[in-house]
Amino acid sequence: MKIEDLYSMKGKVCVVTGGSSGLGSYMAEGFLAAGAGRVYITARSGDALKAKAAELSAGYGGDCIALAGDLSTLDGVEALAGQLHEKERHIDVLVNNAGVGTGGLFERMTPQSWDMTMDLNLRSPVFLTQALCDLLKANATVDDPARVIFISSVAASEIFKHVMAYSTSKKALEHMTPQLALALADDHIRVNAISPGRFYSEMTRGAWKDPEAESFRQELERIPAHRYGGLEDIAGVAVMLCSRAGSYFTGEVLNLDGGHRLRH
Ligand SMILES: NC(=O)c1ccc[n+]([C@@H]2O[C@H](COP(=O)([O-])OP(=O)(O)OC[C@H]3O[C@@H](n4cnc5c(N)ncnc54)[C@H](OP(=O)(O)O)[C@@H]3O)[C@@H](O)[C@H]2O)c1
Repeated sequence: MKIEDLYSMKGKVCVVTGGSSGLGSYMAEGFLAAGAGRVYITARSGDALKAKAAELSAGYGGDCIALAGDLSTLDGVEALAGQLHEKERHIDVLVNNAGVGTGGLFERMTPQSWDMTMDLNLRSPVFLTQALCDLLKANATVDDPARVIFISSVAASEIFKHVMAYSTSKKALEHMTPQLALALADDHIRVNAISPGRFYSEMTRGAWKDPEAESFRQELERIPAHRYGGLEDIAGVAVMLCSRAGSYFTGEVLNLDGGHRLRH
């Protein structure tokens, strides 16, 4: 056995939603670095998405391809699935990463913000997975199964009164993960979730943009690992889950939070 084969994603076809920035772009980069043949990244903003696809294509052997669209609507989910059916006969890896971190106290919560959070964070991963099931099944075997990853959050395991809709959507994703793993097991599709703690991304920019700020220093002090997560942290776990190394995992939620949840 060679360790590089264990973690190789040579030639794999991958889809990462929300791949223009943050965690999605980190996982897309990890897949390309591990030898993936084609990695499709999606987001609403076409320019940022195209720029990220060009940057990642230039850095590695495989192609990174931009597919723009809004996944908070079912039309957007169908449009993305339609584009992928036109381009590919099979997909090896689907990472449902696009999400929104809606906050706000209960008194100020609106049906619109609730729906928007649930639609993007919960409905779109479920129905995109359903719409791509035939492509995921197409090349999947007992020894080399297809992989679906959901991106949850440490907020699913902690109680914060200002992110109720967000944490509820993520808790639901975690509850669905083993159910879908069982439902898709015979199709040789393995389904797992990663539950990140605090990572550098656009979503958390407000907290880390001034690294010298007292509030940021205090936050790092509270996280047991004393740092935010970054590119290698989530790329490493995503590559493990999607290569031979992680092919026996299914229905799991992997906490990737530097111990964040242990302090609450
Ligand atoms: N950063 C953290 O500390 C952290 C912690 C726990 C969990 N997470 C989870 O990680 C995932 C990625 O978050 P991130 O922190 O990397 O945030 P980010 O940097 O803001 O990236 C979000 C990505 O999703 C895309 N997106 C947003 N709304 C979309 C929509 N309606 N349709 C399609 N794409 C959309 C964004 O592009 P456009 O805006 O151009 O559409 C972007 O590519 C989320 O599910 C989040 O809940 C993050």
